[in-house]
Amino acid sequence: MKKKLDLRKEPSSSEVLLKKIIIDTDPGQDDALALMTAFGSEKLQVLGVTCVAGNVSLDLTSENALKICELTGKEEIPVFRGCEKPLTRKLVTAEHVHGKTGLDGTELDLKNKKVEKYEASDFIIETLLENDRKKITLCALGPLTNIATALLKKPEIGDLLEEIVLMGGGFFEGGNITPAAEFNIYVDPEAAKIVLSSGIKITMLPLDVTHKTLVDRQFLSKLRSSDKNSATQAAKLLDFFERYDVKKYGSKGGPLHDPNVIVYLLNPEIYKGKIVNVEVETESDLTRGMTVVDWWEVTDRPKNVNYINEVNSDAFFNHVLKNVLNLTK
Ligand code: RIB
Ligand code: CA
Repeated sequence: MKKKLDLRKEPSSSEVLLKKIIIDTDPGQDDALALMTAFGSEKLQVLGVTCVAGNVSLDLTSENALKICELTGKEEIPVFRGCEKPLTRKLVTAEHVHGKTGLDGTELDLKNKKVEKYEASDFIIETLLENDRKKITLCALGPLTNIATALLKKPEIGDLLEEIVLMGGGFFEGGNITPAAEFNIYVDPEAAKIVLSSGIKITMLPLDVTHKTLVDRQFLSKLRSSDKNSATQAAKLLDFFERYDVKKYGSKGGPLHDPNVIVYLLNPEIYKGKIVNVEVETESDLTRGMTVVDWWEVTDRPKNVNYINEVNSDAFFNHVLKNVLNLTK
């Protein structure tokens, strides 16, 4: 019997009422805003942050997650290193979007916090085995390599998860890393295929919805004028992050992708979508990582995903702002 993961103190009575989540992430400025949105919520208990290679290397995504925990005063949240490359393919990163550190736009300190000694997929497995069934939601903000690895190691954890809520994919909006594919799915399409065919309840926040949450000046100025360092640092991160998409799409602001996962979890009523079949292309070079969404139900393929394509953008930004400003520092 494996040693219990005694990483967390016994939950207080109030914690018992909180929604338990694990956040799998490749920070990334928008991941950083998602982490802050989760950390600033009084309704979530973040059991751990598992890091994956994606926007930048695993060394950097892990370091960035540690920095965000220290920046926001959440040093107690354990951070785990996961997979440094996709299941079978070479790693593709996105420094052209996120900069060489993955958190370009500002320089964050890292004083004392260290990654835990457990590997990310082992933490996911052990935490699910140790908790009651269907009580933990996995929030995936990057390539799905860690989650697929956990499922390959221990398939029965699929039945223990309450839900996977992930940022990834796109259909009506096309792709962002290729004309056909969104980055998170593109990096590790085999991992995405494993997750989408796992039978686990999945909600997908694709580009079709994240391209409707465009950062605006008012939101940025409210962050910038805060007395909280987390908020002012978030503004600097977003100033850098959105420059790429503003130039590419000619829009007034850049899409804020990953916080949609957390806001959906807290406020699903501001979103709309449909339960449909979603498959991933893994064979073709031209359409590698494309999410093929049977939106008009023209096949009899299993309806495996709650596919979200609408959001109340003002409500979204109000939730992000409220939670970031609720951080203790
Ligand atoms: O395509 C957008 C996604 O890719 C976001 O999660 C962003 O952080 C990058 O990982
Ligand atoms: Ca991400």
